Amino acid sequence: MVNNLVDLNLFGGAYKNTRVLVTGDTGFKGAWLVKWLEMMGADICGYAQDYISLPNHHKLLNLKYHTIIADVNDFDFLLKTIDEFKPQIIFHLAAQALVRQSYKQPLTTFQTNIMGTANILEASRLSNCVKAVVNITSDKCYQNNEWVWGYKETDAMGGFDPYSASKGCSELITSSYRNAFGSDEFLIASCRAGNVIGGGDWAEDRLIPDMIKALQSGKTTIIRSPQSTRPWQHVLEPLSGYLLVGQKLLASQKNFAEGWNFGPSSLSQISVAKISSMLKDLWNFKIEFKPDCDAPHEACLLKLDCAKANTFLHWYPIWDINKTLSATVQWYKTYMQENKILTAQQIADYVADARNLKMTWCCDEA
Ligand SMILES: NC(=O)c1ccc[n+]([C@@H]2O[C@H](COP(=O)([O-])OP(=O)(O)OC[C@H]3O[C@@H](n4cnc5c(N)ncnc54)[C@H](O)[C@@H]3O)[C@@H](O)[C@H]2O)c1
Repeated sequence: MVNNLVDLNLFGGAYKNTRVLVTGDTGFKGAWLVKWLEMMGADICGYAQDYISLPNHHKLLNLKYHTIIADVNDFDFLLKTIDEFKPQIIFHLAAQALVRQSYKQPLTTFQTNIMGTANILEASRLSNCVKAVVNITSDKCYQNNEWVWGYKETDAMGGFDPYSASKGCSELITSSYRNAFGSDEFLIASCRAGNVIGGGDWAEDRLIPDMIKALQSGKTTIIRSPQSTRPWQHVLEPLSGYLLVGQKLLASQKNFAEGWNFGPSSLSQISVAKISSMLKDLWNFKIEFKPDCDAPHEACLLKLDCAKANTFLHWYPIWDINKTLSATVQWYKTYMQENKILTAQQIADYVADARNLKMTWCCDEA
C-alpha cells in the first residue's frame, strides 16, 4: 500500500515507533519529512509556527499527529514540550528560510536561526530523553568564494547576507554544543543541502513557487538572476540524507555526529536560466529574463562537494534533474487539475527507485 512503508524496514527500521520531534513541520521540507516518517511508522510531534498563507502542503496532507504551534524562541515552552513528548530524536528545520526576507527582517532571521538553534540544543541537553539532534542548515553556511569547486564540510563558515550568516552561526553553535556537551548518549549532527525543489512549496521569492503562482494568474515570471548557479535537488534527496544521519545517531554511532553535505550530482548544478527553460518545456510557463541590478546581493555560484556522504554514508542522489523537474511539475499539475496530492505516491516511487539502485538505506538489515 502506497501509504505504508513500515515493512520495507527503511533506514534499518530506525524510525518505527520512534518518538521524533520535527521543528518546522508546517514548512516545505518539514511536510515532506513528516509524511515520510509517518509512512515509516514513527511517533511524531511537530513544533512550528502556523501556516503563513494557503494553500499549504502540510495542511493538504491532513496528517494525524499533533503539531504544536509555538515559537522556537520561547525556550521555556520548548523545554516543556520536550519534557512532555520525550523525543528520542529531533530534526530541527524551523527557520526563517528565505534570503530576501532576511534583508527585510535581519533581527528576526538572526533570532530564529541562531538563538532558535541554541534553544533546541540547550533544551535537548537538559532533557534526559533526547539522544540525537539533526540540525538542518544550508549550503549557504559556507563562506562563499564564488569559485567553481564544491564546498566541503571542512571549509570555513561565512555568509554575506543575514540568512547565510545565520546559517553559518547555527553551524558554529552546533559544533560548540557537540564539543562542549556531546556524549555517547547525546549526539549532534548538522546537514547542509542545496536548493530544494518539489511539489507543495508556495514560499515567496523561490523560483518554482513564483512560476506556479504566475502560471495560475496568467502572468509572466520575471527571472531576476538568470546566471546564478545552484545545486538543484528534489526535496526527497536531502531528506534521505537527514534520515540516514538520524539512523546512525540513534544507533549511537558517534563518528556520524558531524556536519554533512547532501547535494545533487554536478549535472544538476545548473543556472537559473537553464532550469527555468527546462521547466518551460514541461508546462506552459511564461518567463522573461530581466536581471535586477538593484536586487540585494545573493551568491552567484554555489556548489556542494558530497564526497564525504558518498564515502561514509554511502548516500547518493537518486533522481537526476529531468526526473526531479518532471516529478515537481507532475505534483503541481495533479493538485491544480485534479485536486489530488501526490506526496505519498512520490515518496513510494522515490523509495522504489532507491531500492532498484540498491541504496544502503533501503536494505533490510537493522
Ligand atoms: N528550501 C530550500 O531550498 C532550503 C535549502 C537549504 C536549506 N534549507 C533549510 O531547510 C529548513 C527548512 O526549509 P523550508 O524550505 O522547509 O522552509 P519553510 O520556510 O518552508 O518552513 C520553515 C518552517 O519553520 C517554521 N518557523 C519559522 N520560524 C519559526 C519560529 N520562530 N518558531 C517555530 N517555527 C518557526 C515555519 O512555521 C515553517 O514550519 C530551513 O532550516 C532552511 O533554512 C532550505
